[in-house]
Amino acid sequence: MCNTKNNILPAAEVEKQFEYIKRIKKDNDKYTELNGNRRRAFVMTFGCQQNEADSEKIAGMAEAMGYEIANLPEGASLIVVNTCAVREHAEQKALSIIGQYKHLKNKDPDMIIAVCGCMVTQEHRVNEIKFSYPYVDFVFGTSSIHRLPQLICQRRASGRRIYCPEEKEYLVAEGIPMKRAEGARAWVSVMYGCNNFCSYCIVPYVRGRERSRTREAIYDEVAELVKQGYRDITLLGQNVNSYGKDSGYDYDFADLLSMLDTIEGDYMIHFMTSHPKDATRKLIDVMANGRHIAKHFHLPLQAGSDDVLRRMNRRYTFESYMGILDYIREKMPDAVITSDIMVGFPGESEEDFEDTLRALRRARFDMIYSFIYSPRRGTPAYSMDCHIPDKIKSERFERLLQCQNAIALEKNKPLVGKTVRVLCDGRSKNNDKVFSGRNEGNKIVFFDAEDSDTGKFLDVLIERADTFALYGKIIRQK
Ligand code: SAH
Ligand code: SF4
Ligand code: F3S
Repeated sequence: MCNTKNNILPAAEVEKQFEYIKRIKKDNDKYTELNGNRRRAFVMTFGCQQNEADSEKIAGMAEAMGYEIANLPEGASLIVVNTCAVREHAEQKALSIIGQYKHLKNKDPDMIIAVCGCMVTQEHRVNEIKFSYPYVDFVFGTSSIHRLPQLICQRRASGRRIYCPEEKEYLVAEGIPMKRAEGARAWVSVMYGCNNFCSYCIVPYVRGRERSRTREAIYDEVAELVKQGYRDITLLGQNVNSYGKDSGYDYDFADLLSMLDTIEGDYMIHFMTSHPKDATRKLIDVMANGRHIAKHFHLPLQAGSDDVLRRMNRRYTFESYMGILDYIREKMPDAVITSDIMVGFPGESEEDFEDTLRALRRARFDMIYSFIYSPRRGTPAYSMDCHIPDKIKSERFERLLQCQNAIALEKNKPLVGKTVRVLCDGRSKNNDKVFSGRNEGNKIVFFDAEDSDTGKFLDVLIERADTFALYGKIIRQK
């Protein structure tokens, strides 16, 4: 292994946190002895799966500190709000929730309210919390998640509010306890940060440069999850398929997938999010030949116009992107391909937008996540000319959805009459008389089942398909 850069936080730093965890636990246990009930912690999460995974660490540490993890903020002694900054709307939602917690703090002045995540990795938002939300006890950024126990202790000991500076060098903290969401699905972060600096995007500024975990640490975690009975494992990274490049490892993301695929057991591996520039033929070949790797590729296109793609700093053209899709479909004819599309990037003309609609018709994605461009302070696009009026952005967004909905329906219809393998997630949230699950391509499937089917792979014969979901019945093995 040559030129390997050590991205890993020294184990002694993590050990230090366990000392703080012990200290807080002692205090919390004393509280339980006196009051007969445990102190509770509530974690509110905004944003992407990376944040969900970070929140599982926050909850894991809170549990180790002796808190009971609560589903509601009322009555909690510790509230952590894990924020997102990708769009203005996400920030406003987080600020509004933090505003709502003021009355809880009034009722219980001993309660600790902490705000972390991408929004408060920006200086102007830290100042906003400092001056407009005086009941927030401390703020910590995305590279300081592991320092939560230390911050609680410091806050209690000093009585002063803390605005945790970001670590100078973002490092990967291994060995933090996690409390995973219920169910048979698990997130595993394999790399953090982003080096791409797409001109509209705040992520590289709030998540720092790319750094990858070692394949040994990832292998051990995935093997343990499979052993524990997790059935669907999603490898996470802002740029998951550039895994390893930052660290000078002599293995890349395709090698990592091949290695994980050797783990024995009944499970599927998904991964997100990939950047087209790193979607290599080697990676597609590994997927096509894999035993456990879902034939599902989430590959954000963002826009169909080469001029817009260039100004977005995406580093591919629509034709080169289509070259990747053609290879995926040649090797895996049934692969599910999903994407992210943005409308209203500064200077997007009607013609540019129509290029995006044409691109959708050619690419024929199974599903897209669609976004209206939101200006992010500090990014190059923020100061570009010709921002698009909201009304036009909304109109384009509607047209985008209409176009894609028709394609999604066309893609789902041929599944009627086919049997698909579905991981059952249990009773549907909106209607507990039916069960829901997802197939290999992450499409949602509804069916009748029994509670004992939850967390299992089932064969489901698809009887009906609409734009967003499939409906069927279980084929039971005799
Ligand atoms: N790393 C991933 C995902 C990043 S954020 C990637 O490169 O695709 C998820 C999506 O949010 C992006 O794909 C993009 O479509 C959207 N997004 C990012 N910044 C945005 C902004 N300023 N306004 C609107 N949507 C944005
Ligand atoms: Fe943002 Fe681009 Fe990085 Fe994705 S690749 S996180 S869109 S800068
Ligand atoms: Fe949001 Fe941060 Fe994820 S900005 S989308 S929570 S990386």
